[in-house]
Amino acid sequence: MLHVNYRNIRVFYLPHLEGGGLTFGQDYIKVVRRLFGKVDHICEFGAGPGFIGFSLLANGLCKRLTLIDINPEAVRIARKTVAENGLKTEVRVYLSDGLSNVPESEKWDLVVSNPPHFDGKYRDYVEDVRVYDPKWEIHSRFYRDVPAHLKSGGSVLFYENLYGARPSLWEKMIGKQKDLKYIKSFRSRRFGNMPRASDVTKYIKGEHGYMRKSSPQKLVVKTLLHASFLVYYPYYFVWSKKREK
Ligand SMILES: C[S@@+](CC[C@H](N)C(=O)[O-])C[C@H]1O[C@@H](n2cnc3c(N)ncnc32)[C@H](O)[C@@H]1O
Repeated sequence: MLHVNYRNIRVFYLPHLEGGGLTFGQDYIKVVRRLFGKVDHICEFGAGPGFIGFSLLANGLCKRLTLIDINPEAVRIARKTVAENGLKTEVRVYLSDGLSNVPESEKWDLVVSNPPHFDGKYRDYVEDVRVYDPKWEIHSRFYRDVPAHLKSGGSVLFYENLYGARPSLWEKMIGKQKDLKYIKSFRSRRFGNMPRASDVTKYIKGEHGYMRKSSPQKLVVKTLLHASFLVYYPYYFVWSKKREK
């Protein structure tokens, strides 16, 4: 069995249970700190071994953590992490298909998730539950059921993949839920802001102060950097919030 240390928490895992939480999933730390600061209770949905959730807990961004996954092996290993780190008071782990096996008493300030990113056939899903969400059924059920588990003003922040779906799909799906409000989709700021087409036009016309200061070479480098960012870093956050009554 392998492990990774997030500050004082040792997280156990097996390679076939990892779906990106070890790498791009760690983008959550900066983003949660910036958007929400410290909250009381975070849930990681589709947690696998809990890389994202345990890392948020270790970084002091929540006091309590709930982990949910459909895979019994992932749940067993997450429970081992809980036991070995003496986290029984702070962390609960549920074996659940969607939120169907999560008690009503579970109420969260924030749900994070690196969910299956690709539509596919049901047989693909059975082969690898990390990757496929046939007909987006897992996402749809999740967004339908999550309001009952969100505290007033609670948020959901999923990490999606542009190769799997565009933000408009989630905007539409979340928009159908009367108790949820789509806020926005955004990338982590790892590579700064994208230059927009209008920036380039303004540069050429010499109207844009910031761009005028930079050389054409700098603009080319910046544009190339962002193009490769688009190709190699397709992840984006989707933020939604419980509607206040
Ligand atoms: C992309 S993997 C992410 C794993 C881990 N959180 C990470 O970031 O490395 C998606 C996770 O969703 C879980 N999953 C798939 N279908 C599910 C369902 N219906 N209910 C709950 N979890 C599900 C899978 O078992 C898997 O652990």
